[in-house]
Amino acid sequence: MPLHDIETRADCERLVRAFYGRALEDPIIGFIFVDVAKLDLEAHVPRITSFWETILLGSRSYSGGAFRPHAELHAKVRLREGHFTQWLNLWSRTVDELFAGERAELAKAHAHRVAQAFLGRLQHLGSTDPASLTTGVTVIQRGPAA
Ligand code: HEM
Ligand code: HEM
Repeated sequence: MPLHDIETRADCERLVRAFYGRALEDPIIGFIFVDVAKLDLEAHVPRITSFWETILLGSRSYSGGAFRPHAELHAKVRLREGHFTQWLNLWSRTVDELFAGERAELAKAHAHRVAQAFLGRLQHLGSTDPASLTTGVTVIQRGPAA
């Protein structure tokens, strides 16, 4: 059966759940979700689904502030480039297994941009206490895609 593109919130949720199914068991990054963040998946899935619904379907259901929890994580377990590389590998593989099309490509491309931005900001932070961080990015109006 040919794969279709990401069309609905339910598609976003399916993608997110499939990704976390992998990420939580991953030998490189799984422990960060399970042991460090002690992620409550049922609380998290609706938020991250909204994040992708906003980016891919223009829903505005996500209100921003994605960086901050990563700064907090970074303070507990230094997030390195290799963690982001593995995150992106799992994400891209999951997208490609389930969907094909323009939005599927955008899901991969935007994840790369965000990962790069997060990594850059974390490296810049160094060992700064995230409690002093008040610079959550809230700008979601952007120009046309390059
Ligand atoms: C349909 C167009 C787009 C939408 C709806 C969108 C939406 C978003 C959202 C909701 C976030 C999270 C912001 C937060 O949590 O505070 C984000 C982050 C980001 N986006 Fe996009 N985006 C779009 C296009 C683009 C394009 C074209 C680029 C670059 C060429 C881009 C680069 C980034 C980067 C670098 C971040 C991470 C910022 C950071 O926290 O450091 N986005 N975007
Ligand atoms: C090493 C890589 C990463 C790790 C270990 C990681 C881990 C986590 C964890 C544990 C949370 C949940 C925090 C909590 O609610 O307790 C979270 C939230 C989130 N992550 Fe990541 N993440 C990574 C990379 C990324 C990337 C590349 C993106 C975007 C493409 C992303 C997007 C988000 C978003 C949108 C949230 C929800 C923030 C909110 O609650 O509004 N993460 N991440």
